[in-house]
Amino acid sequence: MTARPRTSGPRIALFGANGQLGQDLSALAATRGLDLIALRRPMFDAADRAGLDAALADLDFDIAINSVAVTRVDDCETDPAPAVAVNAHFAQTLARACARKSARLVQVSTDYVFGGQTSRAPLDEAAAPAPINVYGETKLQGETLAREAHDDVIVARVASLFGVAGASGKGGNFVETMIRFGRERGALKVVADQMMSPTSSRDAAEAILDLIKVEAEPGVYHVVNSGAASWHGFASAIIDRAGVAATVSPIPTSEFPTPARRPPYSVLANAKLEKALGRSMPAWQDALDRYLTAKGHRPT
Ligand SMILES: NC(=O)c1ccc[n+]([C@@H]2O[C@H](COP(=O)([O-])OP(=O)(O)OC[C@H]3O[C@@H](n4cnc5c(N)ncnc54)[C@H](OP(=O)(O)O)[C@@H]3O)[C@@H](O)[C@H]2O)c1
Repeated sequence: MTARPRTSGPRIALFGANGQLGQDLSALAATRGLDLIALRRPMFDAADRAGLDAALADLDFDIAINSVAVTRVDDCETDPAPAVAVNAHFAQTLARACARKSARLVQVSTDYVFGGQTSRAPLDEAAAPAPINVYGETKLQGETLAREAHDDVIVARVASLFGVAGASGKGGNFVETMIRFGRERGALKVVADQMMSPTSSRDAAEAILDLIKVEAEPGVYHVVNSGAASWHGFASAIIDRAGVAATVSPIPTSEFPTPARRPPYSVLANAKLEKALGRSMPAWQDALDRYLTAKGHRPT
């Protein structure tokens, strides 16, 4: 990781710049004229704990955004070690480095810290986490370890992301998968008993940069588009709004077994975020329309 001359304004170090959210963060920062260092592999390996301390000490920044994660939820269940190293321990290492530099840390986290709770009302930041899979457990550990190591941490919980870059860990995103399968098969079956907060990674990136801009209080923020949907409801909207000739039938989770359990309910309330930003978050349907237009998926 090399040094580069300072410009005016705080310098942001973005870890995970090659990811779905990371690419939107990088692009937006450029649009806003922010001083952002985009860090990606092979410039650093988040799993290489021994080499990280020296590399981070040499890096000159005022704010770090940690958008690095092992995101293949089913792989985490069968092989937890990479998720423990990256999702939990890298967050701690980076938070310690930020504490030494008096730099703010924005730790990106997930709605999958929930799932085991009985409540079926939108979850605010005071709700007790209850992860039900290894990915969620390691992301929650990352939140906790980062906040224990440093007192200036913003935990930005995002959810069910769709962005033009597609998740590098998953090789795409749900929107693209539904459009492709819809065109190929003409009939889709999608789980209808898991409720979540579909969120554009572009809108999440805007909100994260705005939290930095307004110098929001440290703590947890639910950074999601407004509204909620089941995966079936989300898929139906995608197929409808993209003008794909396909049917979308609801199925229960029991008909789509996966190695990792998924939260039956992880809808996040974003009122705290909206208050901090002084604006409302767009509805996910609006975000979806903008995404489909950007990708050329809207019917003419
Ligand atoms: N995608 C979602 O639906 C979703 C939902 C809730 C929360 N989140 C959270 O949002 C954040 C961003 O996710 P995303 O959708 O942008 O995922 P992503 O596209 O998979 O990005 C994750 C990034 O982490 C990097 N990474 C993984 N292991 C690494 C390592 N050992 N060393 C260095 N870099 C490493 C990846 O690098 P490579 O590109 O080189 O593989 C990738 O660029 C994560 O914190 C994730 O937990 C995502």
